[in-house]
Amino acid sequence: MQLLKTSLAALALSAAGLAIAAPAHADGEVNIYSYRQPDLIKPLLDEFTKETGIATNVLFLDKGLVERIQAEGANSPADVILTVDISRLTEAKDGGVTQPVQSDVINKDIPTQYRDPDGDWFGLTTRSRVVYASKDRVQQNEITYEELADPKWKGKICTRDGQHSYNIGLIASMIAHHGEAETEKWLTGLKNNLARKPDGGDRDQAKAILAGECDLALGNSYYVGLMQTNEKEPEQKEWAAAIKVLFPNVNDRGAHVNVSGMAMAKNAPNKDNALKLMEFLSAGTAQQIYAEQVYEYPVLPGAEPSDVVKAFGTLKADPLPLSEIAANRKKASELVDKVGYNDGPSQ
Ligand SMILES: [Fe+2]
Repeated sequence: MQLLKTSLAALALSAAGLAIAAPAHADGEVNIYSYRQPDLIKPLLDEFTKETGIATNVLFLDKGLVERIQAEGANSPADVILTVDISRLTEAKDGGVTQPVQSDVINKDIPTQYRDPDGDWFGLTTRSRVVYASKDRVQQNEITYEELADPKWKGKICTRDGQHSYNIGLIASMIAHHGEAETEKWLTGLKNNLARKPDGGDRDQAKAILAGECDLALGNSYYVGLMQTNEKEPEQKEWAAAIKVLFPNVNDRGAHVNVSGMAMAKNAPNKDNALKLMEFLSAGTAQQIYAEQVYEYPVLPGAEPSDVVKAFGTLKADPLPLSEIAANRKKASELVDKVGYNDGPSQ
């Protein structure tokens, strides 16, 4: 009877577009709604099922996760939400699709600046928004975000879309540190230093450095690891080889960091299993898998980044609370439009 129940539940979830990975002897299940890509979270979920016998059902989305859970209402099968970026974690909380979790295990593993004071979301890994610099054409080995607006870099900088959440997080941190008026000046300066209209993802900026289109770019730290080790697209190794990683602001506040994270869904039908999964994801084994396979920084104190990541240098992270970044996101987005960032350099 238990088996039948499980397969019926699996069937219902399958109809809703969920990928099913139920082992033969499942001690129940947990349903995950994820913005994180399947290949990034599969090793973690496999290990969780191995340790606990709990099956994981995953629905992958690239947009509309909050709206979907809202629409499903009290009958939502969602237990745990996995996502990147503080913006999406706060969006989930503000959208009313999370519930507070109080767990001594999780609170011991995750430092306070990386979790919501109410327990509605938790950071699992950090990633820094660093500067990719041409090994051939950039002599200096230190830089600040502020310096990116210096006219000496005119025509030398490439970035992705100013409205992308990774850039919005950085700009929001600039507002938190310098205020809106200063940040507007800075963003205008950065726009005027662009080599081209913002385009592509972070990895494309490294590719542009290799091609000689620009000397500096903004990019997330883990992409460097993903490029360096990319067997599927080996040309990415050449993009990575053309750049060095500069952690901005080492001599003052440190480099901007954002998180990937998790939340418990408001109406989680498998609440106990959801808590088990969340405790697993914050603990040592999962944190090590993140570090080794995704090239992010574990939030667990004492857990080491991978050797690939260590080779970039030492991350000194800006201690600004994520909640302050979240609070300045809207202003950051308005500034991007106001300065016409995505129009590229004015000629
Ligand atoms: Fe990313």
